[in-house]
Amino acid sequence: MNGQDRPNSDPDSLRMRKMEPADAANGLRLSRLAGWNQTVRDWDLLLTEGTGFGFQTGDGLLVASMIALPLGPRHGWISMVLTDPDWRRRGLAKRLMAEGIDILEKRGLIPTLDATPAGETVYRAIGFSGDTGLARWKVSPDPSASVSNNQHGLKIRPIVESDLERLADWDCRHSGCNREAILIFLRKHRPDLAYMAEDVEGNLQGYIMGRSGDRLPQLGPLVATGSLVAGSLLQAAATGAADSLYVDAFDQTRSTLEASFKGSWSRERGFKRLLKGASASPEDPETVFLAAGPELS
Ligand SMILES: CC(C)(COP(=O)(O)OP(=O)(O)OC[C@H]1O[C@@H](n2cnc3c(N)ncnc32)[C@H](O)[C@@H]1OP(=O)(O)O)[C@@H](O)C(=O)NCCC(=O)NCCS
Repeated sequence: MNGQDRPNSDPDSLRMRKMEPADAANGLRLSRLAGWNQTVRDWDLLLTEGTGFGFQTGDGLLVASMIALPLGPRHGWISMVLTDPDWRRRGLAKRLMAEGIDILEKRGLIPTLDATPAGETVYRAIGFSGDTGLARWKVSPDPSASVSNNQHGLKIRPIVESDLERLADWDCRHSGCNREAILIFLRKHRPDLAYMAEDVEGNLQGYIMGRSGDRLPQLGPLVATGSLVAGSLLQAAATGAADSLYVDAFDQTRSTLEASFKGSWSRERGFKRLLKGASASPEDPETVFLAAGPELS
């Protein structure tokens, strides 16, 4: 049914309220309506680390959401901007965005986000800009591909808890964001998807992590000093994990990653990384190959 025809779809009947971690299942209803890949655990992480706001009907149904995630040191993410299809085009996303921008700017952070084509229309109209492109790809690893532990003089090994502090610091120098809480979460829940690469002297050359996903497991972030290292890490995490996985790859480096990975790639949809009041994206385009999934930054 079109929201315009619904007798109770007057936005003045809604109440804006803060979202708490206990709202994870309410959030999941919205992300499933949009066909997104978050799990209830992902929502719980974002609502714990960030500040969420939503609109609720008189009978308690959450019909729109937004989470401001203040990663730092310079950027904060606006994520989970979702409106129930029955309540779209009533200005709900616009009002929640204004709240999220205010939360981040008051902390001196640049509001940043990864926009779907639908979201891009909303964000550009309120002053977001940028042209860094990413796309969601479904990758299917070649089951016969073997992962050698010593390719190109690299040692690839599972990430253990004691690696995380050093890893988060290294990651921040490349991604431009402090993602320690996200990295701890990803390794804790899917240690089987978490690998790092070191050179013969033990210097970090890259890492990959992943999460379960509501539709398919998702790999990312993937940060590496070069495409051969990145390809070896992707191969290590993907092989044996599932028949198909999602990755959110940056357009600039995706073809070099594809060339060093044994498997097939099929494109699902594009995203744009947009910023408010700034032009330079936080990540180093040469070393950040996969995002953490647009909504985990
Ligand atoms: C994108 C989305 C959040 C917009 O939610 P919404 O509550 O309908 O958005 P708003 O009513 O606040 O729209 C704000 C403005 O954005 C633009 N806009 C929103 N949806 C649009 C559409 N489908 N086509 C063209 N413009 C659109 C309009 O300029 C609109 O203002 P107007 O209605 O006064 O013309 C919603 O469509 C959605 O949940 N989509 C699926 C999930 C998604 O892609 N989220 C974005 C993540 S980056």
